[in-house]
Amino acid sequence: MQIIIFDDAQQVAANAAEWVAELINKKSNPVLGLATGSTPISLYQQLVNKYQANQLSFKNTTSFNLDEYLGINASNEQSYRHFMNENLFDHVDIDKNRTFLPTCNQGENPRAQGLAYEEKIKQAGGVDLQILGIGANGHIGFNEPTSSLASRTRIKTLTKQTLTDNSRLFKQDEFQPTLAMTMGIATILDARYVLLMATGEKKSQAVKDMIAGPLSAMCPASALQMHENTIVLLDKAAASKLEEQEYYQWANDQNIKINQKFGLYHNY
Ligand code: F6R
Repeated sequence: MQIIIFDDAQQVAANAAEWVAELINKKSNPVLGLATGSTPISLYQQLVNKYQANQLSFKNTTSFNLDEYLGINASNEQSYRHFMNENLFDHVDIDKNRTFLPTCNQGENPRAQGLAYEEKIKQAGGVDLQILGIGANGHIGFNEPTSSLASRTRIKTLTKQTLTDNSRLFKQDEFQPTLAMTMGIATILDARYVLLMATGEKKSQAVKDMIAGPLSAMCPASALQMHENTIVLLDKAAASKLEEQEYYQWANDQNIKINQKFGLYHNY
């Protein structure tokens, strides 16, 4: 894991935008894995800014989102499709026909939908760069603690903690779904690069468990210890429980020199 600690959340988003932009500018048919939630909103804002400044085009980009609530229509304001349109897709030149979410509408079989989503990712050539946030309980996507580290896209029941954490996004009398479709942990590990962003003190324990804890289904993000190319972007608050911060800083100083010479990616 490459762990990079920034002063604040804005710097985290700016650096994440550089990773995305370099991939899109270097690869002819990039495939992005995308996340929703509060954390990536400022990343998407930065990408929109780059597009508006003619520094970036999403014309050839395909995207796959991590998750979507079960049985929620795309027109529902709480759907992740709606979130993606609002925060990114409506503001850039991406072809919406090539933006995918693991939807499962009323009456559809979630198992068949999960398999079909996996197949679609494969047909697109696999995800080049997967953007991730992290839950306060260590979830990635909606892979809650106890999720199989070998899991694939499927239906998941959200934990009480996740429902409480996300209740801030729902109005008092609004229906909050308890089931979602999510890429599995093995699906995420298939991505060539993983870029996880975490900001705020609330994430600090999950961040510590992910980086320095044992590999365990109780902290699904710890599975990223098994991934060859994971970059973790943190603000100071999210990094506050890490004991090896000095080493990460030192290692990052070396990486910056290498990246300046050879680019951020090994293979693009
Ligand atoms: C969102 C997702 C989740 C979030 C996580 C953090 O698509 O898969 O894993 O990344 O719940 O959410 P925020 O950023 O709202 O704290």
